[in-house]
Amino acid sequence: MTTQATNQTLPLQNKVALITGGTSGIGRATALLLAESGASVVIGARRAAEGADLVKEIESKGGRALFQTTDVTEAKQLNSLVDIAVKTYGGLDIAFNNAGFVGEGLLPLVEETEENLRNIMDVNFFGVWNAMKAEVPALTDRGGGVIINTTSVAGVKGFAMFSSYVSSKFAVEGLSRSIAQEVAELGIRINTIAPGPIDTDLLDQVTNGDQSMFTQYVPMQRAGTPEEVAKLVRFLASDDASYVTGHTLRADGGMMS
Ligand SMILES: NC(=O)c1ccc[n+]([C@@H]2O[C@H](COP(=O)([O-])OP(=O)(O)OC[C@H]3O[C@@H](n4cnc5c(N)ncnc54)[C@H](OP(=O)(O)O)[C@@H]3O)[C@@H](O)[C@H]2O)c1
Repeated sequence: MTTQATNQTLPLQNKVALITGGTSGIGRATALLLAESGASVVIGARRAAEGADLVKEIESKGGRALFQTTDVTEAKQLNSLVDIAVKTYGGLDIAFNNAGFVGEGLLPLVEETEENLRNIMDVNFFGVWNAMKAEVPALTDRGGGVIINTTSVAGVKGFAMFSSYVSSKFAVEGLSRSIAQEVAELGIRINTIAPGPIDTDLLDQVTNGDQSMFTQYVPMQRAGTPEEVAKLVRFLASDDASYVTGHTLRADGGMMS
């Protein structure tokens, strides 16, 4: 079914959505779903070939999308991503700040390096901070909008051997809830999605392909799918969540219950 065929009922019709980290995993699934839901999608990540493939896939299904190579650690590149959204599609309504990585993965503190911690903070924390600095003025110009930041169950509780990643995700939780209070009167809602183990490259990287390392702690006894997370992003981005801000929505199969 194309977007044209269902134009009257699409939940994100006429919306413009920006997604960082859209070239794989949760970001890719969300780009596809938001486009199917009527949004024009602006995708920023570093891998240009994967970005171009995604745009082709969205367009082949009748959606609208563009990709711009973006490293979220560079504030100027996020300003440019927001600019291109505004110039191409007329404004910005939704931002999904999702780019993230695990650095060197699981390490005890004594083996942790300052370089690894700084790299993780640069992407996971400053990447979101840079994005929100660029997005809030554009959302304000539009009279309001929505930001959704990807955190993690590792932003809800501590995990041994994972302190740098956990710290970066706790920082994004604090940032998101504080800015949510700051911008609520501007009509901007800010929420976070906190996934448990989700079947993506990132999970395979941190578990060396043995997902049961984490899924054994999930009451539902399985990893989630990127599509299951994407549906929650769409919910938070839609008017169905019009009274929800400063909230953390867990998608973790019961892991933090
Ligand atoms: N999978 C899980 O179990 C899980 C659980 C909790 C939270 N999360 C979070 O979910 C988010 C998405 O991860 P995923 O699981 O979907 O893994 P993924 O498939 O590895 O996706 C990570 C995305 O982030 C992008 N990215 C990484 N560094 C970037 C940078 N410097 N600038 C721009 N983009 C960058 C990657 O694109 P490029 O390489 O093209 O730049 C990729 O699109 C992350 O924030 C992660 O921390 C994942």
